[in-house]
Amino acid sequence: MTTVDPVLAELAACVLVPVVVLQEAGDAGLLAGALVAGGLPVAEVTFRTAAAPEAIRVIADRGDVLVGAGTVLTVAQVDQAVAAGARFVVSPGLSRAVVERCAEHGVVALPGAVTATEVQAALELGLDTVKFFPAGTSGGAAAIRPLAAAFAGVRFVPTGGVGPANLAEYLAVPSVVAVGGSWMVPTDRIAAHDRSGLIDLVSAAVRTARAARPATA
Ligand code: 3PG
Repeated sequence: MTTVDPVLAELAACVLVPVVVLQEAGDAGLLAGALVAGGLPVAEVTFRTAAAPEAIRVIADRGDVLVGAGTVLTVAQVDQAVAAGARFVVSPGLSRAVVERCAEHGVVALPGAVTATEVQAALELGLDTVKFFPAGTSGGAAAIRPLAAAFAGVRFVPTGGVGPANLAEYLAVPSVVAVGGSWMVPTDRIAAHDRSGLIDLVSAAVRTARAARPATA
């Protein structure tokens, strides 16, 4: 637990993890360009659509965005994500099979954990960073603090129900390494190819994060 994985360090440096649902892989380039232009070169592309593997491939091939896979539920999806170039794999819950497959591939696994039992299970699988999901309905920042007190060294990526209004609350918790969310990359703006609207949302999120955590953002 003393060495920080370089990909986790990159996520920590970004502070924010945009959670993307792409209906069309053909929109991946536009999205990636908007993220870079907005100052947030990172994306979690969710396996909620069939476009995910190709979208990850398009973004990974650019070389200027840290791209991961989200909503990864199965070992087969881990394989697809890694083959496409995903450098981290996010799941809504904790699956031993998914975490172990990520370890076999040497990619970061970021499973969901919101209870002490789930965090302890993640620790037993050799992890020290978990997605706190769904953050809003699981008690928010107030629920992370006692978990952080009990599990020294564990770091959290709260996601789900986070937005401009409550981002600072999460970033005020020292064990929160980054915060995920879809608010800066809405599906409708992507589908509308609203590049400038996306850049505005992304750069506003970056400004809010920097204000909340000036030392790292
Ligand atoms: C996720 O998959 O991480 C969440 O659905 C993102 O939650 P949000 O849409 O509330 O930001």
